[in-house]
Amino acid sequence: MKRAAVIGLGAIGPIHLAAIGQNPGITLAAVCDIDRQTREKVPQDIPFFTDYMEMIREVKPDVVHICLPHYLHVPVAEAAVKAGAHVFCEKPVALNTAQAEEFAAFEAAHPDARIGICLQNRFNESIEMLRDIIQGGEYGTVTGLKGIVPWSRPKSYYDEQPWRGKMEYAGGGCMINQSIHTLDLLYYLGGPVGSLRASVSQLLDYGIEVEDTVSARLNFRNGAKGLFMATNANYKNESVQISVQMEKGEFIITDNILSRLGENGEKEKLAEDAKMPGTKFYYGASHKKLIALFYEALENGSREYVHVRDAVMGIRLIDAIVEAGRTGKEVFLPENAD
Ligand SMILES: NC(=O)c1ccc[n+]([C@@H]2O[C@H](COP(=O)([O-])OP(=O)(O)OC[C@H]3O[C@@H](n4cnc5c(N)ncnc54)[C@H](O)[C@@H]3O)[C@@H](O)[C@H]2O)c1
Repeated sequence: MKRAAVIGLGAIGPIHLAAIGQNPGITLAAVCDIDRQTREKVPQDIPFFTDYMEMIREVKPDVVHICLPHYLHVPVAEAAVKAGAHVFCEKPVALNTAQAEEFAAFEAAHPDARIGICLQNRFNESIEMLRDIIQGGEYGTVTGLKGIVPWSRPKSYYDEQPWRGKMEYAGGGCMINQSIHTLDLLYYLGGPVGSLRASVSQLLDYGIEVEDTVSARLNFRNGAKGLFMATNANYKNESVQISVQMEKGEFIITDNILSRLGENGEKEKLAEDAKMPGTKFYYGASHKKLIALFYEALENGSREYVHVRDAVMGIRLIDAIVEAGRTGKEVFLPENAD
């Protein structure tokens, strides 16, 4: 039985609490939040702290779950590892590429500690099957990829938690906070990106610092072309769409269903993602799956979870898109970073 502690009980913390509660191999040892009102989200017999270091020192959890604003991920993760804990940290892995690389070096320098990053959508049933199809080779090579994230965030989303709209605390907007999963999946499915052009903008008049809309043309190293579009300025949250064109077949994931497209656009359903009742449909159910894999890795030495080094490319792509948007020029990604 592993003992878990959760830091941050805002929007996503309760999803971790639910995944922990449903896993017979994990017990919730303590929780922490600077906002005392969040105490009501956990049973009264679970120790509640407002200082995470005090919690780690007193409770000595096996695993610390980090569900905090982005600027706290790396410092809290490193402090927890130095105090002897393993870490399961929400995305993004860091605020920017430089910090992500430093964190990957920290991970490499602490081989006894496991640090998992919550890019849970890699473990959606639809993505697992699509990756198997791509790697299986039956349909030839990938020639095109598209990822679209047509989401909506009201002004209250930023007003209620102002860190979400500030560069210093969030590191960015609709990319690092929302569509990072889709960008990561384009890389996970299509491989490394050699260069890109992009536009980055604010369509919403919310008075925030971070971007709410982006589009990017991605040139993958293997020759495939990609299109990535993401916004928080839609009128509602609609399904993420991921399309992959291969030499001998075309596939689409929409409404969490993977289909093969026939010659006339008809869909043959191949897989459907599990759903987590009571949560937002676009969170998916893979938090529970990835958290279970991470704890299994602690028991049996498996490497099957998202490591810090695996999550760096998503941040590298975001930084490149921001630079391309700012300069209006094609940005080339360093080859040795793949
Ligand atoms: N994987 C996903 O699909 C997914 C979905 C949503 C959010 N997230 C990520 O989860 C993280 C949290 O996002 P959120 O929307 O839940 O944020 P939030 O603002 O709703 O919650 C953060 C909580 O952390 C607490 N907190 C802040 N500073 C603290 C400190 N020093 N010590 C202890 N507690 C502190 C706040 O009081 C708040 O309750 C972010 O990294 C976000 O990107 C991931």
